[in-house]
Amino acid sequence: MAGAIAYIAQVSDGMAWKKAFEASLGPVDFRTSRNGLGNIDDIEIALAWKAPPGVLASLKNLKMIVSLGMGVDHLLIDETLPRHVPITRIVDDGLIGQMSEYALFWALRHHRDMEKYAAHQSASTWKPEKFVDTIDRRVGIMGLGSIGQDTGKKFVALGFPTAGWSRTAKTVEGVETFHGADGLEAFLARTDILVNVLPLTRETRGILGTKVFEALPKGAYVINMGRGGHVVDEELIAALDSGHLSGAALDVFNIEPLPADHAYWKHPKVQVTPHIAGATNPRTASVGVIDNIKRLRAGQPLLNAVDPTTGY
Ligand code: NDP
Ligand code: OXD
Repeated sequence: MAGAIAYIAQVSDGMAWKKAFEASLGPVDFRTSRNGLGNIDDIEIALAWKAPPGVLASLKNLKMIVSLGMGVDHLLIDETLPRHVPITRIVDDGLIGQMSEYALFWALRHHRDMEKYAAHQSASTWKPEKFVDTIDRRVGIMGLGSIGQDTGKKFVALGFPTAGWSRTAKTVEGVETFHGADGLEAFLARTDILVNVLPLTRETRGILGTKVFEALPKGAYVINMGRGGHVVDEELIAALDSGHLSGAALDVFNIEPLPADHAYWKHPKVQVTPHIAGATNPRTASVGVIDNIKRLRAGQPLLNAVDPTTGY
């Protein structure tokens, strides 16, 4: 039998992954961190989500690390991570679709004043709000990767003037594109609803701070489904309290779970969700992982490989 596959995550017992692998690869030697990894020298592939630092380094015969999420910051934060082992990540249409739904939901809720109507209803008040036309509500997406591009196309399909910002130049049908530090200010100046779906890297940590908020038009709304580490919390709260930003929907936080006494929970302009914008589903996400396992064993190039130098 080929080398063992280790599931190093606390989010589930990993059995759905084992089942998916066996349906396609036949019997697999599948170990889990919950039940013990056995002889770690047998382990060829590690599926990991927030593995404790040092665990991956201890697997001396590891040939591939698979991030169980689309983000890989949870791996690269481990200073002992074995840098010679290739890292791949999940890129799954199901998860991408969920992420786009999340952005669309909060954007539409804000765009159509649904929060105000909920308040009017609780006061039994019949009060139409001033209508903003879709063609006058500009959406801007930070990050034009697998998620940002899908999200952007869906906003375009609804008729929102949509732009995206990336590190390198990109072309996405219907989306006005900006890139690099030089393109950021112009991108922000034309953005009424900002959606962040950047990866968390050395360059993007803390990007959602005063400088970015001030470059947005007054009344802009922020949706963060990237990582909590993108946000400077005090600066976001200050921009909301000053009235410069009209609201924020936040799925990810600097500390997760968000501490019970955090100001976001009770802030009237903040919507909190517990990192649920997208969830990895082994049923669909396993397809790409199985493909990469076959590629690894056949000595072929891996797909969805992470570049540790850029951090995504
Ligand atoms: P990709 O790697 O496909 O795309 C990343 C995008 O960000 C690219 O367009 C890239 O630019 C851009 N980017 C990276 N660094 C910079 C920078 N310094 N300046 C400007 N743009 C930059 O990522 P995905 O779309 O697959 O995922 C994005 C993130 O979404 C994940 O890393 C994760 O943090 C988050 N996520 C959150 C989930 C949730 O439930 N909340 C679920 C899934 C993912 P370029 O195109 O030039 O390379
Ligand atoms: C991911 C996540 O990165 O769920 O996939 O955050």
